Amino acid sequence: MKEATNAVERAAMQQVLPPDLYSSFLAISADAVIAVDDEQRIIFFNEGAEKIFGWSAAEVGGKYLAMLLPERFRPSHRGHVQGFGAAHGRARLMGERQEISGLRKSGEEFPAEASIQRMVIEGKDIYAAVLRDVSARYRAEEALHQAIRARDDMMGIVSHDLRNPASAVKMLARSILAESRERDDIPPDVAERVEVMQQAAVQIDALIQDLLDVTRLEAGRLTVLPRDVDPVPLVEDALYAMRTLAESSGVALDAAFERELPMVHADPERVTQLLSNLVGNALKFTPAGGRVEVRVQPYDDGAMVSVIDTGEGIPADQLPHVFDRFFQVSNSRAGARHGAGLGLPIARGIVEAHGGTIWIESAAGRGTTVRFTLPAARGERVGVASAR
Ligand SMILES: Nc1ncnc2c1ncn2[C@@H]1O[C@H](COP(=O)(O)OP(=O)(O)OP(=O)(O)O)[C@@H](O)[C@H]1O
Ligand SMILES: [Mg+2]
Repeated sequence: MKEATNAVERAAMQQVLPPDLYSSFLAISADAVIAVDDEQRIIFFNEGAEKIFGWSAAEVGGKYLAMLLPERFRPSHRGHVQGFGAAHGRARLMGERQEISGLRKSGEEFPAEASIQRMVIEGKDIYAAVLRDVSARYRAEEALHQAIRARDDMMGIVSHDLRNPASAVKMLARSILAESRERDDIPPDVAERVEVMQQAAVQIDALIQDLLDVTRLEAGRLTVLPRDVDPVPLVEDALYAMRTLAESSGVALDAAFERELPMVHADPERVTQLLSNLVGNALKFTPAGGRVEVRVQPYDDGAMVSVIDTGEGIPADQLPHVFDRFFQVSNSRAGARHGAGLGLPIARGIVEAHGGTIWIESAAGRGTTVRFTLPAARGERVGVASAR
């Protein structure tokens, strides 16, 4: 119905347009506009077609359309147009059904998108085709794929060749520290410096891990190994590792579990990583004397976990971007601290790989709450899921 109205409106509009205007439109079109008669001889070839194919209208006039196609497509194309002729004469995107290739005068083939329409003029079939050269787009897509592959290769190198030396520093520093506690021939100031080295190596390791996870996330390869678990020990264990940080920051860290929580379907290692990101943020952006609470309650058939802090909050205009890679709120205290802006995008990837959702509520100066859901237990043992 809408289409019919449009057609009527268009017809009415066309009556008031001078015919010369049509030829001007065809002349300025960057697409090739070509018409052939019922024998597929070219009867119209606009400027766009001349540019794309390299032939002039005079050179192709009266010749078979097949000359614009690579040799191997000629037989199938003939049948294709005839089949189209037998069908009703509505415009149809040939490009939607098969990839079309054009052939330039130079002999170069190029990918194209085309739509074709049959018309009957003075009792004769005429086919009009509009064809777009998409080789530039194909090249851009290919370049993009290559760039992604190159980045993935680089991440492979980073993970393999950078993690090993980082782990070596971490382990050696740890063993020196252990020795210094047993023996007293290591001066305290040396032990202190070795400790700083060890912490730096731990940070390098965590950053490499985050970069790897974010790359996997984009490639759809962030895997989770969910199983049916009790959310209470799951969350308690994840928080255990955060207690030291909370104490040293002077921020209270509490957990509250609603009674009658259902079992959930989750990967404990990934949930630990997720909570360490969220609670880590809450502690990082909450000044001493503040409070961070982790609340777990039933949600649908599964559970919802909320990480609530009394910290600096996030201004409304920046809130929509906090899940973007590398995004950090400007003027936030984070500027002075370490962080790459990868925690929240990874958190979201982990939640979504579980089939849950994550969202954030915050106001500047009034604290932040991040909530995520975990799906209900399935009554099965181990499964493998993957982000997106
Ligand atoms: N609880 C919070 N309170 C205030 N701002 C927050 C909070 N959580 C996140 N933000 C803001 O969102 C930004 C992005 O968070 P995200 O965890 O992705 O990165 P990060 O903590 O800066 O670095 P990383 O997690 O990679 O170490 C933070 O830099 C901060 O500006
Ligand atoms: Mg973070």
